[in-house]
Amino acid sequence: MPRTRTDQKSATPWWRDAVIYQVYIRSFADGNGDGVGDIAGLRARLPYLQELGVDALWINPWYPSPMADGGYDVADYRSIDPLFGTLAEAEELIAEAHTRGMRVVLDIVPNHTSDQHRWFVEALASPPGSPERDRYLFRDGTGPDGSRPPNDWRSRFGGPAWTRVTEADGSPGQWFLHLFAAEQPDLNWASREVRAEFEAILRFWFDRGVDGFRIDVAHGLAKDPALPDLGIPDDALFEHERHKEDHPHWDQEGVHEIYQTWRKIADSYAGDRLFVAEAHVREDRLVDYLRQDELHTAFNFPFLKSSWEPNAMREVIDRAVTGLAAVDAPPTWVLSNHDVPRHVTRYGRGDTQTHEHDVGAGPADLELGTRRARAAALLTLALPGSAYLYQGEELGLWEVEDLPDEVLADPTWKRSGGTVRGRDGCRVPLPWSGLDGPFGFGPKGTEAWLPQPAEWKTLTAQAQSGIPWSMLELYRSALRLRREQSGFDSGTLRWLEMPEGVLAFERSPVLRCAVNFSGEPFPLPKNWGVLLASERITGGQLPADTTVWLWGGGSSRG
Ligand code: GLC
Repeated sequence: MPRTRTDQKSATPWWRDAVIYQVYIRSFADGNGDGVGDIAGLRARLPYLQELGVDALWINPWYPSPMADGGYDVADYRSIDPLFGTLAEAEELIAEAHTRGMRVVLDIVPNHTSDQHRWFVEALASPPGSPERDRYLFRDGTGPDGSRPPNDWRSRFGGPAWTRVTEADGSPGQWFLHLFAAEQPDLNWASREVRAEFEAILRFWFDRGVDGFRIDVAHGLAKDPALPDLGIPDDALFEHERHKEDHPHWDQEGVHEIYQTWRKIADSYAGDRLFVAEAHVREDRLVDYLRQDELHTAFNFPFLKSSWEPNAMREVIDRAVTGLAAVDAPPTWVLSNHDVPRHVTRYGRGDTQTHEHDVGAGPADLELGTRRARAAALLTLALPGSAYLYQGEELGLWEVEDLPDEVLADPTWKRSGGTVRGRDGCRVPLPWSGLDGPFGFGPKGTEAWLPQPAEWKTLTAQAQSGIPWSMLELYRSALRLRREQSGFDSGTLRWLEMPEGVLAFERSPVLRCAVNFSGEPFPLPKNWGVLLASERITGGQLPADTTVWLWGGGSSRG
């Protein structure tokens, strides 16, 4: 059972090698039949997650929100949106997850609030220069009549990052910054009040037994106070240079003191609380977020973006393992999340690096993608550090690329003028059981908020349960072995000499993992037993696009 407030900190905290399952709550399970996933649905499926064998859940934002960006526009950080349930239900969920041996990580969204947040409503009703406006980034416009935005920054969802307000007297007024949708005004982290508020929000949830936070846009909070232009042409929809040296709003030095304060708060609670950063920064800068007095871990996006290719994979793995060792942070591994196309589809494309939700990348070979996804799962779960699973990857779900235009809900679709479809294709509700929609996602006869492909009837949790070689059983076996077999806890990895196209490493003298990226079968060393493989192994040959876990040793060690 997870440690709670009364426990001491452990020498090897759970998050160093945990498997954390991402619950995109609106698409996980619908308990009340309104077509949207909720806490009741999630609670009813906790036995499934326990049986799957994950150590923790990361729950995407469940706070009251107008849902302009799937809940990443938070109107009240201390409550639950009625769409998902109540605060009492959230508390019960946390308690029950703990009883079942799973920890709970929440999503905190500190870069921006919703435009319906009390603070933003007050800011709009207050004059320029007021303390209410100082919680956000309001500025006068440029040009003779202030009708041009204060600078040329771009929203991540396309278009200008500034929107002009109408003042209380009806006149055209100041502009406010929003690095995402206009419904997501950026907070001013130079404000003491903003800092104090988020410190209180962390305590609010830690007090309720939450085991950690995923920090949304962790690299965006501090802005260069001069708000300098980036030199982006007027007609550009997006900014394409977010890792540029000395960027004025990504990865500014000022973020670090915020996280030093947050770390002190986490440390003041007994047990091992976790922060995991969503920080899209240059790899050599990521370590700064993970210094001993800052955050514990960060998502490894280069791994997610890597092509299915041995040299590229080995390089990103090496960089993560060695790069983070300097600050003694464990590496993390992630293949999919709610912002990128599902990896079955990515790996089923010639160009597996495609991770933007743009159309036009060509059809995906889903059979090949699934085979590679199986191999990638065993590779990921054999690596030292912690792993994130995105709901539905254990069922082998693919990206739904043919959603009708009229159901698309991602703000990117609208803000790009219908040119970029956005992220809905990886957010389609899970298929649990049965032969037709909503496939047990909600009660029979209800309609899920996004339509599920009819083909998913073969991918439901029910259809795969107990079926040897199904994706679900592969994940269950892998997680069980990872938990039970010694060797997975070593925290280290040693590469083995292999022919071109094969990657193999040792986790302990008796535990190895080999991945065959080449098109040819590869003869496995003798004296090693197969613990688990992503495809059937016959005649001692590791087939193409297959991963195997080997156990044993003897004369073939080396
Ligand atoms: C993060 C979230 C994404 C959201 C954005 C704005 O990147 O993962 O879903 O749209 O932040 O909050």
